[in-house]
Amino acid sequence: MLPAMRSALVSGGNRGIGLEVVKLILEGSRECRVFLGCRDLASGQALAQKFSATYGSRVEAVQLDVTRQESIDACGVACAKALGDAPLDVLVNNAGILLEGDGKPFSMEAARDTMRVNFEGLVALTQHFMPMLIRSPCGIILSTSSGVGARTLGLLSEADRFALTDASLDVRRLSGVLSRLVDDLHRPDNPYHAIPTVAYGLSKLGVNCYTQVLARQYTMMCINACSPGFCNTGMCADYTGTRTPKSPILGASVFRQVLFTELGFGRTGVFFKENSKAGTPVDEAVSVVDPWIALPQGEPSMTPPAVKLTAAPMSAAAIPTALAMA
Ligand SMILES: NC(=O)c1ccc[n+]([C@@H]2O[C@H](COP(=O)([O-])OP(=O)(O)OC[C@H]3O[C@@H](n4cnc5c(N)ncnc54)[C@H](OP(=O)(O)O)[C@@H]3O)[C@@H](O)[C@H]2O)c1
Repeated sequence: MLPAMRSALVSGGNRGIGLEVVKLILEGSRECRVFLGCRDLASGQALAQKFSATYGSRVEAVQLDVTRQESIDACGVACAKALGDAPLDVLVNNAGILLEGDGKPFSMEAARDTMRVNFEGLVALTQHFMPMLIRSPCGIILSTSSGVGARTLGLLSEADRFALTDASLDVRRLSGVLSRLVDDLHRPDNPYHAIPTVAYGLSKLGVNCYTQVLARQYTMMCINACSPGFCNTGMCADYTGTRTPKSPILGASVFRQVLFTELGFGRTGVFFKENSKAGTPVDEAVSVVDPWIALPQGEPSMTPPAVKLTAAPMSAAAIPTALAMA
């Protein structure tokens, strides 16, 4: 019997995927109180007020800007005050930005801002809440990543891939490698400019590698990342391409499957993705285990086939070996 999930914090919980995650946690665990992280507290409080008709006082808005340490600290104080001696059971790292693509020219400032929110902010938030999460009997961190992260990792040079998938990687070295990769983008002749939305991709592969580092370090917790797939949220509002986005509720269903079904139970260091086509009814949605690295076509895949719920997750330690064989 799994321990009950009694508290969760969702960053960027005020709209898009994050708002759907708040709702599905409230629905999935009737005992769970949810801290809805939002930059604009007034709008978060208005949402919490709306939710109170259905969920009573189980949802509480907390001001949270992941790029500001004082905001993270204050959010920690607010959650600790509400929880008393109880731990935080679940952290959903969802806040994120995408500043590239859709014809926008590359900008170093946008690249650094992307890293600041998607990677550095996520690390700062996680580190702040780790002492509260460690005390939980279920201790879950689930970070919103993207298939772009896996594809970007697969397109880096072999040396960079090795640096990022080394089983002895720690947070300091990971941050150092990512800083170097982003700094090097100032050179117009950097071949990585050929990678679509390269800064977003680096930030999300950073999320993936950080997830692996933590999963190796905190073996009693379930620390995973997931991708909702391409969804019709504010992030993609300027998209002019031909792909049909999914509804946010369909994309967010990967969180339900990881948090509340056997797909995620007992697994750590795994990358999950929502695998349904746009238009699929939510109750028919299917999420699967997916590779951390999408190697370019022709190179052997290094992750076992997905969807076998009983299969052991690929161990983080196996990655460098698998890469060496590729
Ligand atoms: N949509 C997709 O196709 C897709 C695909 C794969 C992964 N994702 C990931 O899904 C996550 C959610 O994105 P979304 O699609 O739901 O986009 P969205 O509708 O634009 O929502 C982004 C959320 O992040 C918050 N946020 C941005 N900067 C923040 C900061 N500095 N501190 C705290 N919160 C911040 C936003 O808050 P404000 O309301 O204050 O701006 C908003 O709540 C992101 O991590 C994204 O990378 C999305």
